[in-house]
Amino acid sequence: MTKPIACLAPMDGFTDTAYRRIVRKLNPEVVLFSEFTSINGIEHSDFVRSRLDFSQEELPYIIQLFGNEPELFAKTVESFKDSGVSGIDINMGCPSKNIIKANAGGSLMNDKDLACRIVEASCKAGDIPVSVKTRLGWDNRDNLVSFVSGLVDAGACMISIHGRTFKQKYKGVADWGPIYDLKKKTSVPVIGNGDLKGKEHALHMLKNLDGYMIGRASIGNPWVFWSDEERAALRLKDKIDVMIHHFQLIREFKEEKKAVIEFRKHVSGYIRGFSGAKGCRALLMRCESEKELIKEAESIAQYYESKATDETE
Ligand SMILES: Cc1cc2nc3c(=O)[nH]c(=O)nc-3n(C[C@H](O)[C@H](O)[C@H](O)COP(=O)(O)O)c2cc1C
Repeated sequence: MTKPIACLAPMDGFTDTAYRRIVRKLNPEVVLFSEFTSINGIEHSDFVRSRLDFSQEELPYIIQLFGNEPELFAKTVESFKDSGVSGIDINMGCPSKNIIKANAGGSLMNDKDLACRIVEASCKAGDIPVSVKTRLGWDNRDNLVSFVSGLVDAGACMISIHGRTFKQKYKGVADWGPIYDLKKKTSVPVIGNGDLKGKEHALHMLKNLDGYMIGRASIGNPWVFWSDEERAALRLKDKIDVMIHHFQLIREFKEEKKAVIEFRKHVSGYIRGFSGAKGCRALLMRCESEKELIKEAESIAQYYESKATDETE
């Protein structure tokens, strides 16, 4: 992988195949992560497994799994042996109540032995590289180096760190200091994550790390991996064309009503940062059909294009 390694963060409810294909179209080298997916769910349901389906264009593509049973991890990883995925990532950072109750995600930070056994079993199960995404720690940063050393000894070949503790959830500001310190003591690539606003911000924060990962700032903004100058040159019409294409990709696997409603969470990201954006967003949020959504989006693009032409004449 070319360094610095730029990654799209796994985001449940967002980074499905349509989202990833949009990010890929604009960013040939970015490493794409799936939404996290339960190994127990995969075991019992083809529908859950289908969350991880991907097209060749998405590669390099890493699937993210969560769970707490080493044997089931091994079985799941083995089932992906011939799938062509670039890697398996294990979620050891999710702070959501249900995941913690299931003793998975972030709760593994409190059970180093189990966390290491999961990594070991996953590595042994197939020829697929295994990585881990975690946080600084449970309620402080004191155990980060020892926790990660254990994971690396167990076979993890890359570590991504969100610079907050489990207890912090999303509060406060991500602290990258402990991630730089960790890199000094770790032999595998370390990816920094937390509060990045764009490529230049990421390169500024990178320091000794091997790569960076961007999540929320990519929502409705698949250009987040471009330089500020490249992004500034984008016209609203370019953005709306991509937004419509994103919607059409969602439609390939979701029925119309569901797709239109679900797409609303992406619209507010695409339609912002220009005078009149609030009204345009409200208009698009009210659309109830595919035809209406595309028609309104195209007329917004056309209106702002003609306004821009008038202004330059
Ligand atoms: C809506 C949403 C869903 C998320 N889902 C996942 C997930 O499935 N797996 C995971 O490891 N992290 C997940 N995260 C955490 C992000 O990957 C990332 O670590 C976090 O948002 C911090 O990065 P950011 O400031 O660039 O967004 C999620 C975050 C958000 C906002």
